[in-house]
Amino acid sequence: MSKEFKRYTITAALPYANGSKHIGHLAGAYLPADIYARYLRKNNKDVAFICGSDEHGAAITLQAIEEQTTPKEIVDKYHTLLIRCFRELGISFDIYHRTTEPLHHETAQEFFLNLYNKGELVEESSLQFYDEEANIFLADRYIIGTCPTCANEKAYGDQCEKCGRTLSPDELINPVSKLSGKTPVKKETTLWYLPLDRYEPWLKEWILNEHKEWKVNVYGQCKSWLDAGLNKRAVTRDLNWGVKVPLPNAEGKVLYVWFDAPIGYISATKQWAIDNHKNWEDYWKKEDTRLIHFIGKDNIVFHCIIFPAMLKAHGDYILPDNVPSNEFMNLEGDKMSTSRHWSVEMHDYISQFPYKSDQLRYCLISNMPETKDSEFTWKDFQTKNNSELVAILGNLVNRVMVLVHKYYGGQVPDVKGCDDLEKVIREAKEKVSHSLEQFRYREALNEMMNIARHGNKLLTDKEPWKLIKTDPEATKAVLYDCVQLIANLAIICEPFMPFTSKKLWEQLGIQDVNYSWEDIGRQDLIAINHVVAPAVILFEKIEDEIIDIQIKKLQDSKKPIEAPIHNEMEALKETITYEDFDKMDIRSGIIVEAKKVEKADKLLELKVDIGIETRTVVSGIAMYFKPEDIIGQQVSVLCNLAPRKLRGIESKGMILMASDKEGKLYFVNASSGVPAGSTIK
Ligand code: MF3
Ligand code: ZN
Repeated sequence: MSKEFKRYTITAALPYANGSKHIGHLAGAYLPADIYARYLRKNNKDVAFICGSDEHGAAITLQAIEEQTTPKEIVDKYHTLLIRCFRELGISFDIYHRTTEPLHHETAQEFFLNLYNKGELVEESSLQFYDEEANIFLADRYIIGTCPTCANEKAYGDQCEKCGRTLSPDELINPVSKLSGKTPVKKETTLWYLPLDRYEPWLKEWILNEHKEWKVNVYGQCKSWLDAGLNKRAVTRDLNWGVKVPLPNAEGKVLYVWFDAPIGYISATKQWAIDNHKNWEDYWKKEDTRLIHFIGKDNIVFHCIIFPAMLKAHGDYILPDNVPSNEFMNLEGDKMSTSRHWSVEMHDYISQFPYKSDQLRYCLISNMPETKDSEFTWKDFQTKNNSELVAILGNLVNRVMVLVHKYYGGQVPDVKGCDDLEKVIREAKEKVSHSLEQFRYREALNEMMNIARHGNKLLTDKEPWKLIKTDPEATKAVLYDCVQLIANLAIICEPFMPFTSKKLWEQLGIQDVNYSWEDIGRQDLIAINHVVAPAVILFEKIEDEIIDIQIKKLQDSKKPIEAPIHNEMEALKETITYEDFDKMDIRSGIIVEAKKVEKADKLLELKVDIGIETRTVVSGIAMYFKPEDIIGQQVSVLCNLAPRKLRGIESKGMILMASDKEGKLYFVNASSGVPAGSTIK
């Protein structure tokens, strides 16, 4: 760090309070932010660690309509859930605020007015979709229609979730209102825009030249946005949920959620300052304050480009010094997603593994998606727990405590150890500090564990249980060293595993701990003759059965058939020649008989008339179609697929199906009236 900072404002992305969050979110933003904040506090730095619920936006109002409730009820429910989860997982926010608080509304309105009064916003009238039956302008999310790219009929006005294309409602084919189901009309409305193009030269200089030290994944994403050129962005919406636009004649207009949410960091800081007798402006307006935003990669553009442009336009604020965004954490080989039922939700983990938050933290840190996507698997979680936490850390502490009680009645022996240890620990400390400052958590965690590994090596090399018979003084020195090493671990593991740190101090029999990072390396943390607590088990082994239950639960929860989400840049298949294509014999057919295949809940046995003959085809569509409903269904059949036996039935050919984002299946057929046996090319 070249510059000396006096205080730190650490923010973690405000989660949308419209659902629970999963461990990927935790690994992406909250955990790294927490470790960093804890590390700074241990270094006696002045820190404000800020977060809260993001409670506005059209997604929430839409969800309320769908669930026949109100936005307020939704956000109240999830705000409460999120607070609980973060607390139980040891995320040490100094404040967890919410954007529905009046203080936030005032703050966001003031910010908007400041830009407005300076002429930093552009007012423009445009034609927007309007639902004449519901009498409201339709947010992009409220309009659905056919995607021009992939023909998904349920694409949203802002994005097609099937192919991932970003859309504007104008691009949808056959747009309809989600509220009334009617075709919306165009109606004139006024919106305010932030002209990002005005900030482009400055942003290029500020990011591309002045922040070359940002993580490559972050820098790279910024560069491609900047290279593509920036456009104006609407900062208001016609919606009745959110922060009201503070202008006359702005009835029915609110600030766009991505305009008000980051201002939520500022309003949360204000509330924290009120509660703690601080001056919020110190944390946002002083050059010697270091502002760092912790986020997931889908938030990069907002935190690196749009919010800084807003801060710059305002002029009184400092800018983020770093935005160490992580990439995504996958789960058991697939993208983690709550809506696709492929996730480990924070509250589920907490209820299934009570008092095991550090075990999860440890596993997530060691797999943190720092520069590229990473992966969580339950087996790996078990291995990390059993072979690292139990076998290395827990085992060390337990052996030392047992011996100290056995030989010295629990008193720290009165012979000091050797100096090497100090060197080993100080070096490890330097590495941990350096890695943490570079946001390299995996590396830091490993260095921390090396201290425990060193302790185990000491025991294995010196064998105090044998040494006690020949050299009681030397034995004392070994165990003295080990006790000091454990005390050092208690300090250094705190940012990573705060609950374990607390347990270690309890184990050491120390009540009021005020050791800081500076003390790491000291060999006199625990006084001679001090009595340590009886040995406890720090970490329990996790058995196979427990892991198998989780894996099964996950598999069962997955929607029956998963269509690939092209959004995730699933590469297109490789090019084939016409000859390759022409090898396939696809014909139109008609299902003439259908029955379930016994003991196979996905399979139907079909008889299909393909013109020249009627064939048996076994098809995995039973989750979606009842046999009696599909007699007479026109289908397309790949006829020359090599026959295969499924559940003892020979299947000759394959029925072509389309599969949507939810994995729901649809028949692919030629327009009606095509006779059975027509070939498809
Ligand atoms: N709610 C957003 C999300 O979950 C993050 C908002 S971060 C903030 O993706 F800066 F806008 F607060
Ligand atoms: Zn699409």
